[in-house]
Amino acid sequence: MTEARVKLIVDDIVEAVRDVLRKHKVTFPEYRAGFFHLLETAKSGEMGLLIDMLFNQTVCDIEMQSREGTRFCVEGPYFLEGAPEVKDAIKLRGDYEPLLIRGQITSTDGSPLNDAVVDVWFADPDGFYSGFEDDFPIEYCRGKVRTDADGHYSVQASVPGEYPITRERHGPTGQLVEMLGRQGWRPAHVHFKANKDGFRSLTTQAYFEGGNYLDNDPVEAVFDDLTHATTQEDGTRVLDVNFTLDPA
Ligand code: BEZ
Ligand code: FE
Repeated sequence: MTEARVKLIVDDIVEAVRDVLRKHKVTFPEYRAGFFHLLETAKSGEMGLLIDMLFNQTVCDIEMQSREGTRFCVEGPYFLEGAPEVKDAIKLRGDYEPLLIRGQITSTDGSPLNDAVVDVWFADPDGFYSGFEDDFPIEYCRGKVRTDADGHYSVQASVPGEYPITRERHGPTGQLVEMLGRQGWRPAHVHFKANKDGFRSLTTQAYFEGGNYLDNDPVEAVFDDLTHATTQEDGTRVLDVNFTLDPA
């Protein structure tokens, strides 16, 4: 990002916020209340959560104006570089229901993409992400899988828990969600980030048809084309998710 672009955008953000202060004749005590709320959010380590909750999907919508293929959707604050490459199965924890996640990655012209790398990450059944909790190392509930010669990938995972942005789990951010009159639970979802040389990186999510909170996601990131029915195969639940990558 160039310095000129930083200046352009930050100048406009500052002006937009000042316009809101003037429009609502914000008092000094109100200003300080907001100031301390943001400080508390930062102290609680929730700044990423707050910013992604409010703005990540907007940037994804902008991204979609200039790309083809599968819908780009929020990365959220829980992606980690350095997840282990996994062959068939991701390490799991908790009282989980197994979920086989599989699919095919193709280019926008329909040709299968071999050797694409897909980061897959999801919450455990209690809605926790690995790498962000003590005793929950990043080898769990996340991994990189590679497509075969026909562009197929397949990995054993678990049905993710719904994710709470609630006062009980997240102090200041949960409190803000309540004050905004929103419910705080994200529907159960699986995150993906697919990379292949010569193609634009794709970050997206998959939701479960019939799941809770699909109509009132606090992050506003649920779309019909990202919501999938699962099937049952040999007693295991299966989520088929195909991706189409946009040539760079
Ligand atoms: C998530 O996908 O888990 C997430 C996204 C944005 C804010 C908080 C959580
Ligand atoms: Fe998530």
